[in-house]
Amino acid sequence: MAVGIFDSGIGGLTVLDAIARRLPDLPLVYLGDNAHAPYGVRDADDIFNLTCAAVERLWAEGCDLVILACNTASAAALKRMQETWVPADKRVLGVFVPMIEALTERQWGDNSPPREVAVRHVALFATPATVASRAFQRELAFRAIGVDVEAQPCGGVVDAIEQGDEILAEALVRSHVEALKRRMPHPQAAVLGCTHYPLMEDVFAAALGPDVTVYSQARLVAESLADYLTRRPEFLGAGTQSKFMTTGDPARVSDKSTQFLRRRISFEAA
Ligand code: DGL
Repeated sequence: MAVGIFDSGIGGLTVLDAIARRLPDLPLVYLGDNAHAPYGVRDADDIFNLTCAAVERLWAEGCDLVILACNTASAAALKRMQETWVPADKRVLGVFVPMIEALTERQWGDNSPPREVAVRHVALFATPATVASRAFQRELAFRAIGVDVEAQPCGGVVDAIEQGDEILAEALVRSHVEALKRRMPHPQAAVLGCTHYPLMEDVFAAALGPDVTVYSQARLVAESLADYLTRRPEFLGAGTQSKFMTTGDPARVSDKSTQFLRRRISFEAA
């Protein structure tokens, strides 16, 4: 009864941790495509092909349901995967939907006309590919009116994290927050629209200041998965073992994950 969790690198571990806390008995198989990270600077076809290959690898591990714990893949590839590629007996879900549901105070399937919501000035921090897709703004605009979204492409942050360079990652986060604040001086809410960014959440929060609510995507995704599995238990796959797999160098990826997650994580080759 395993569920698969995919990210381009180690960022999806923030989602895995939240899911493991919410559903402690559920075996989770993690796959990081570290050999090809970062995805945020790739084009949509490239992201689609890499994401499909990774999802197939997780299906082979007995995970009929795979969470794309990667905003870039969710924004640039998921819709095309669901419409053209995922067979009826499998599911691939992204990390966008729970965040949009929280911000717009409604369920995904609620297709009533857009209405006013409490949060009106939203700062979106995401990878260049996620920002370029405009998927977040599009989904928000279907459901909410009067919400001003200022998006900041945070070039370099995923790369710095994947290289294990915390000092560079911190400096980049500060400069991206400053750049955003020049365009939107007083955001009410900040969305960390990349699963790597919660690894730098303290730096984002300090740079944004105490008046900005930082939305935790990981917790929202965990809650939404728990609800989904209650409604659709047939998508719990045959796998029984939790494990961490990478397309990169397992020793290096284990070390970086241990550094950022502050606990020992051991990866094996995918
Ligand atoms: N964690 C991925 C995301 O949520 C990072 C993408 C990348 O590799 O650039 O977007």
